[in-house]
Amino acid sequence: MNHERRAKAQLDKVPPGEGDTNLSPNRKAWDSGNVDAAGRALLAEDERVFFRQSLSTPCLSAVAKAEGLWIEDTAGRRYMDFHGNNVHHIGYGHPRLIAAIKDQLDTLSFAPRRFTNQPAVDLARKLADITPGDLGKVLFATGGSDAIDIALKVARAATGRFKTVSFWDSFHGAGFGGLSIGGEALFRSGPAGPLLSGTEHVAPFACYRCPYGYPDIDGGPDLDLCKMTCADMVRYVLEKEGDVAAVIAEPVRSVPYVPPPGYWQAVRQACDDHGALLIFDEIPSGLGKTGRMFVSEHFGVVPDIMVLAKALGGGIVPISAMIARPHLDVLADRAIGHYTHEKNPFMARAALTTLEIIEDEGLVEQAARVGAYGLERLHAMRDRHPLIGDISGLGLLIGIELVTDRDTRERASEAADRILYRALERGLSFKTTMGNVLTLTPPLTTTEADMDWALDIIDACLDDEER
Ligand SMILES: Cc1ncc(COP(=O)(O)O)c(C=O)c1O
Repeated sequence: MNHERRAKAQLDKVPPGEGDTNLSPNRKAWDSGNVDAAGRALLAEDERVFFRQSLSTPCLSAVAKAEGLWIEDTAGRRYMDFHGNNVHHIGYGHPRLIAAIKDQLDTLSFAPRRFTNQPAVDLARKLADITPGDLGKVLFATGGSDAIDIALKVARAATGRFKTVSFWDSFHGAGFGGLSIGGEALFRSGPAGPLLSGTEHVAPFACYRCPYGYPDIDGGPDLDLCKMTCADMVRYVLEKEGDVAAVIAEPVRSVPYVPPPGYWQAVRQACDDHGALLIFDEIPSGLGKTGRMFVSEHFGVVPDIMVLAKALGGGIVPISAMIARPHLDVLADRAIGHYTHEKNPFMARAALTTLEIIEDEGLVEQAARVGAYGLERLHAMRDRHPLIGDISGLGLLIGIELVTDRDTRERASEAADRILYRALERGLSFKTTMGNVLTLTPPLTTTEADMDWALDIIDACLDDEER
């Protein structure tokens, strides 16, 4: 089989999911025309030394610089980064953050176990202050997947149960905890197993593509018809199982799909009625991305445990946090969060400074304003572009769902993949989700002018594709 046919065969086997695949023929065509000799040499060496894996290696190109909203490759080509793995809320290389972490390196660069330190305590207190309700006791780790594991262990300990309910199509990390509760074959099937036992799944909310078959009204729910069956199904499973420790979910799905109104109140009530905790994974969406500091604030629901990571380290330092209600602190005689960098002062200072930057620069308000502006412009674009089936999102988590036909809603995945590479050629980087959704996740520092620049490119790419 030649390379193209093999790539196509592999592509056909990969279910649409979390991100665009690096096996697409469009990727190969892009590589050959857009990477300079230095980049090509680095890519070849990268492929030689790294394990290959879907979504990442082989890579697209080589980055030489990341600053503010921009990344720059080895040939000096600049890309406005509307992806950023959701780490770049404050923009890449924020000068105030760099100054703070340099200062921290000069002051106290590490604290071994048994010793506490000021930045770690300050960060824990700050998170307790800004998170909703009585969320107030924390553990830190270096990545989201680890913090998800900690949350699962706390839920088990506090409830004396081990089962979880989570959602198909969700992603919660690549550790065994995260991939067991996650809902995508790419991460949890085949060699990933055996998975954690007791990890039950239900179909998620997805009004435009309701898994229960109900019609939508303009991308939102028709509640008279569906009676929010997606929330009822969580209650149903909690009742049938009878001993579930926790429901764990992203409060806004990363596609991005937004829940129907009242969804989280209904699930919160079902959890309370059946003795299950509610865990919100706000790893990509927390810290202002949706136009509120925490996604849960949109819905007036306080989870028992919240998990943060990604942008918490300001796009420079890896750090994650599990923040729980104080009465869940029941494991004094165990070591569930025993990680080497559990109270690393350097990581903590980076996170603390990141939170201060978000507050001092009014970035949550900016995300709300610019996100609303972008969504409004996209709704207008939908009127002109038959390829756009639906626009979804909240704040600066924005989805443009492409379809070959608005009636059948067949996913226009090939068009989405072509548009991804055409946009890159014009200097805009974003990812696709579920195959056919152009997913825009720019930093909170994005201005209306930046949004216009990016949407003009998408507009032109849609014109090209429809022509
Ligand atoms: C919703 C969600 N949960 C968990 C994770 C895992 O975080 P990490 O990659 O830091 O382990 C991610 C990462 O993309 C995520 O998007």
